[in-house]
Amino acid sequence: MRILMVCLGNICRSPLAEGIMKHKLQQYGLKAVVDSAGIVAFHAGESPDSRAIAVAGIHGVRIDDQIARKFVTSDFDDFDVILTMDEEVHQDILKMASNTNHASKVNLFMSYAGMDLKEVPDPYYGGQEGFEKVFRMVDMACDRIAQSLLQKQK
Ligand code: 4NP
Repeated sequence: MRILMVCLGNICRSPLAEGIMKHKLQQYGLKAVVDSAGIVAFHAGESPDSRAIAVAGIHGVRIDDQIARKFVTSDFDDFDVILTMDEEVHQDILKMASNTNHASKVNLFMSYAGMDLKEVPDPYYGGQEGFEKVFRMVDMACDRIAQSLLQKQK
């Protein structure tokens, strides 16, 4: 399984999703490829936002080695599932899909969380508490994803 997490800038939400998912895979003894990307290239080449690095670190997840990159259309072939952090990102990615196979790989990340929420809110313009909230939401969804991968392996 190859999973790509996608948000707007690839410095806050999707790096957390990548880091937390990799952490869960290790905890559950699962093998999968996980990467992340952004819709825009503003922050390409940068490390994750320092607030995202901090909140991950508090919870024992390292994300400071990640480097932001822009989503590219070859990602549709390179990944099995493309998980989008909000509706805007979701629509933007779907617009880039050139066939139904590619489009069928795109799902809202939060659809796995078993919560009423559909989107991971963008924490970029808020404070540290927004990052803590995002961490908890992403952690819940990643745990569900890991559990469903575990079921498929059985
Ligand atoms: P992300 O957050 O999409 O979760 O990485 C953002 C990062 C940067 C910007 C917006 C959102 N920005 O406008 O630069």
